[in-house]
Amino acid sequence: MNAPLDPRSALTPRLDRRSRLAAAMGSGVAVIATAPERTRNRDVQHPFRFDSYFHYLTGFTEPEAVVVIIAGATPRSLLFCREKDLDREIWDGYRVGPALAAAEYGFGEAHPIAALDTLLPKLLADQPALFADIGTDAAWDARIIGWLNAVRAQARTGVTAPGEIRDIRRLLDEMRLVKDAHELDTMRRAATISADAHRRAMATTRPGLFEYQVEAELLHEFVRRGARFAAYPSIVASGPNACVLHYVENTRRLDAGDLLLIDAGCELDGYASDITRTFPVSGRFTAPQRDIYELVLASQAAAIDAVKPGNHWEQPHEAALAVLVRGFIDLGLCQGSPEAVIESGDYRRFYMHRTGHWLGLDVHDVGDYKRDGAWRPLEPGMTLTVEPGCYIRPGEGVPEAFWNIGVRIEDDVAVTPAGCEVITATTPKTVADIEALVGSA
Ligand code: GLY
Ligand code: MN
Ligand code: MN
Repeated sequence: MNAPLDPRSALTPRLDRRSRLAAAMGSGVAVIATAPERTRNRDVQHPFRFDSYFHYLTGFTEPEAVVVIIAGATPRSLLFCREKDLDREIWDGYRVGPALAAAEYGFGEAHPIAALDTLLPKLLADQPALFADIGTDAAWDARIIGWLNAVRAQARTGVTAPGEIRDIRRLLDEMRLVKDAHELDTMRRAATISADAHRRAMATTRPGLFEYQVEAELLHEFVRRGARFAAYPSIVASGPNACVLHYVENTRRLDAGDLLLIDAGCELDGYASDITRTFPVSGRFTAPQRDIYELVLASQAAAIDAVKPGNHWEQPHEAALAVLVRGFIDLGLCQGSPEAVIESGDYRRFYMHRTGHWLGLDVHDVGDYKRDGAWRPLEPGMTLTVEPGCYIRPGEGVPEAFWNIGVRIEDDVAVTPAGCEVITATTPKTVADIEALVGSA
């Protein structure tokens, strides 16, 4: 059984991340809040999801918390969090409280969140720079400006306010882009749960079910294994719905002749997985469905082969595109030479998205794709998706046999020194493996 990690078991990597961040800052103070709580509707909150940057540095999962990192010769980290409060704990549940949080989460100091307005102007006094993620939340921006003004108001006592406000994301995005061993371990666990959820969905699918009933099988497996949330709304798209890239209604009834495209992944201890599989509802591909499926599968294999250190970000996409375009021409979907079809962009009628994205704490994770105008070289520890597809809407000049076929095949990969590791590899994807599993439950 794949139990979620206790975030507190991951203290060492988080202490390491805080000290690496302080070193990258050089000097100054970083202030990073967790996410705000949001109302869903009267008296009901959305399930709380911590801020990804905050979680990366702290592992602390309660709402109303802020981490402060002071760089310099002797870097310091402080946590602000909710105080113990018996009445609130009776109604809403356990709070760690500052004293225990300092010990368990590795902070030299922890304070009640209510002390933030008093203490932050003191911590910012005479510091050269304030690092924050300005622009994410207007209410948070206003508080930061308030603290800076509180320091400026002390000017006549000889105190100076930070002369620079710097974007902490420039530093943290670079760090988050290359995963450490703890992150890779968590992502492998998330990937395994999602792979098993896709297996469960394939095994239980049969004509006549509604898409949401297949979604329920995915969620059942996620939650049963300790991954309490999906990393993003699950796409369970049958028949023509597979050609709607962000279809999330999941309300159609499955027909025997349909393909079913499922794009679903769990979030485990904050880390996303992101898998797509496409399979026939009846358990047998028709000939045109199989032609398109095998083409997308071959394009994905070519893209995965191109994920290795030394190659740059765009090379897996270029490899997938070369295979897809040759296939589109062979199947009569596009006309002309491969070079002409790529040059004109005609292939975009059937393949209109890119072949992947960074993956991590956020499903579309942080990190630049280009540096100084050039595609970024792949490095060990980077994690990304490889997800080519083909979506054929009915239309003039499009062979009718292919109408309404939508196929995407998506795996999660980690770049290794020798190439890459497909961490979602146990999700069936050959025609034979899929046909053996679908409807077998
Ligand atoms: N599930 C979101 C994506 O594939 O990018
Ligand atoms: Mn994806
Ligand atoms: Mn996806």
